[in-house]
Amino acid sequence: MKDLTQRKNDHLDIVLNSAPRVKKQATGFEQWRFEHCALPELSLDEIDLRVPLFGRTLQAPLLISSMTGGASRAKTINRHLAQAAQALGLAMGVGSQRVALESDDNWGLTRELRQVAPDIALLANLGAAQIASTKGLDYARRAVEMIEADALIIHLNPLQEALQSGGDRDWRGVLAAIENTVNALPVPVVVKEVGAGLSVAVAQRLAEVGVAMLDVAGAGGTSWAAVEGERAATEHARAVAMAFADWGIPSAQALCDLHQALPQMPLIASGGIADGIDVAKALRLGATLAGGRRACWAARPSPARRSRRIFRS
Ligand SMILES: Cc1cc2nc3c(=O)[nH]c(=O)nc-3n(C[C@H](O)[C@H](O)[C@H](O)COP(=O)(O)O)c2cc1C
Repeated sequence: MKDLTQRKNDHLDIVLNSAPRVKKQATGFEQWRFEHCALPELSLDEIDLRVPLFGRTLQAPLLISSMTGGASRAKTINRHLAQAAQALGLAMGVGSQRVALESDDNWGLTRELRQVAPDIALLANLGAAQIASTKGLDYARRAVEMIEADALIIHLNPLQEALQSGGDRDWRGVLAAIENTVNALPVPVVVKEVGAGLSVAVAQRLAEVGVAMLDVAGAGGTSWAAVEGERAATEHARAVAMAFADWGIPSAQALCDLHQALPQMPLIASGGIADGIDVAKALRLGATLAGGRRACWAARPSPARRSRRIFRS
């Protein structure tokens, strides 16, 4: 457990302090441009960004993506994020609740967090390996109950786990476990990647088992291969991880492909979303929400939202 907590702390340090020095994959949103409309015929003040999500109303279509749970600083970070989400009316995912479920410490992932943000769409979080374990259903129920979540996010991170010392290596039975969870849980299940993107083939299998929403979490933002490379214990492990630093389906491509293949499936666009223009592009390309670790960037109306024509440059 100490190793797991240390790993979570390392992740925060690396992401906060040292932008990994690696070749970077672009999100693909930079290839899209809105056609400028010089005659909008609307009042900016009347633009309404509210959107319903799991029985709540968001003031803007933004999700603060799941970030941490189980590091020593996680309690403060999650409380601050919950306060921001409540003040701005955004949705928020907590980071993986694995450590809180498996250790004696709850790391602040309790009903107190819900009390800080009583009105937001609050999403629980567990990894696929935990869901596929023999305790999967019990974990899923407890993860939702402990923070009174409106939905459960299950993250798929096979690349990160493969590059991580001590990472989970057995991915058999994950889809069946997701299906069991969908059928047993009283709240909807969302499935996401963590920065390498969901393909159409994977999304179709997830849709078939009843997943309510997908977060593409594509390439172009945080690269977990690069993060694991930064904390690798040997030069060899570092070189292997860094070779995958630009791996994955760029976020905009994953979003367009999934929206075309599954037009009814609600989608979250995330992975390198940088500002409100990226958010507007994501919405226009089929997303219901945009998410990321910089989610407070864009809680303001953008004229681009009404610009209907978008084209590839
Ligand atoms: C420090 C850190 C910890 C994260 N922990 C989790 C996690 O526990 N569960 C999860 O589903 N995603 C986790 N993520 C992934 C993010 O939710 C998001 O999918 C990913 O960072 C891509 O978005 P970005 O490019 O805006 O960073 C984490 C991200 C960061 C930066």
